[in-house]
Amino acid sequence: MLLHDRPAFYGNARVHLLRRWCRLFSNSGFYCQGRMDLDQRSWWHNPQFAAATGGFFVAGDPARRAINTLEAWDTVRRDMIVLLLRDLVERKVEGDLAELGVFRGSTARLIHHYLPERKFYLFDTFTGFAERDIQIEGATTGRHTKSSEFALTTLDLARANVAQQNDNVEFYPGYFPQSAPTFLSQRRFAFVNLDADLYEPTFAGLNFFYERMVPGGYILVHDYSSWPGARKAVQEFFKDKPETPVPMPDKSGSALISKMRLGAA
Ligand SMILES: C[S@@+](CC[C@H](N)C(=O)[O-])C[C@H]1O[C@@H](n2cnc3c(N)ncnc32)[C@H](O)[C@@H]1O
Repeated sequence: MLLHDRPAFYGNARVHLLRRWCRLFSNSGFYCQGRMDLDQRSWWHNPQFAAATGGFFVAGDPARRAINTLEAWDTVRRDMIVLLLRDLVERKVEGDLAELGVFRGSTARLIHHYLPERKFYLFDTFTGFAERDIQIEGATTGRHTKSSEFALTTLDLARANVAQQNDNVEFYPGYFPQSAPTFLSQRRFAFVNLDADLYEPTFAGLNFFYERMVPGGYILVHDYSSWPGARKAVQEFFKDKPETPVPMPDKSGSALISKMRLGAA
């Protein structure tokens, strides 16, 4: 490259330095993660493309949407969830939202503030894993965990973190699926985030929500590639279904399922 071509020289030098810097950490737990090209702070940002499509938002969509941060080490999951929600808006896929496994509400906050106009049902014991589920987990997967894991939360703390914009968010504390109110059977869902880690609640979540998903709606199961019970539940549940769960490369390895139309298999 010619040295008088300054923009190209500095551009290449910048990429070279970034590569070296990231390589320094590439074998550690925290790797340098580039922002998506859609992101205005990305080095590879393409303003023409982002302006034409709306980037993380849908071009021409009049709704007020905000993108809240997840944990700093989980940017791939944050971007994935935003793009899935964006996709529902763009394709006009109607339906409610739900999350099983809220803990302190960081993912719930992200989802609600992006789609505040939709009903959003939230389920958690808010006291951590149930003893019954822990026993089943040990027996079916050999993974031993404790009820104290995720016990450091409260309903009030989760409410404060979610900071709901309107009365579309409803919390149902208690053991799922028993905590699901009866009217919920009549609702239809466009996006369900299953983040309960263990086999038993993950299977119960799939069992409850799958048949209530609208075609083209998304089920996202967190921890598919990190918790053996979540993985087992997904694999067992979808053995006789037309959809194939798609493994995603976020930190804990989610699985994504897009609900098919009846007879579309
Ligand atoms: C990994 S945490 C959820 C994290 C959360 N999505 C976030 O954004 O931080 C898993 C949660 O699932 C909840 N959980 C697990 N089994 C449950 C069940 N059967 N009923 C209700 N909540 C359950 C636990 O209480 C725990 O808070």
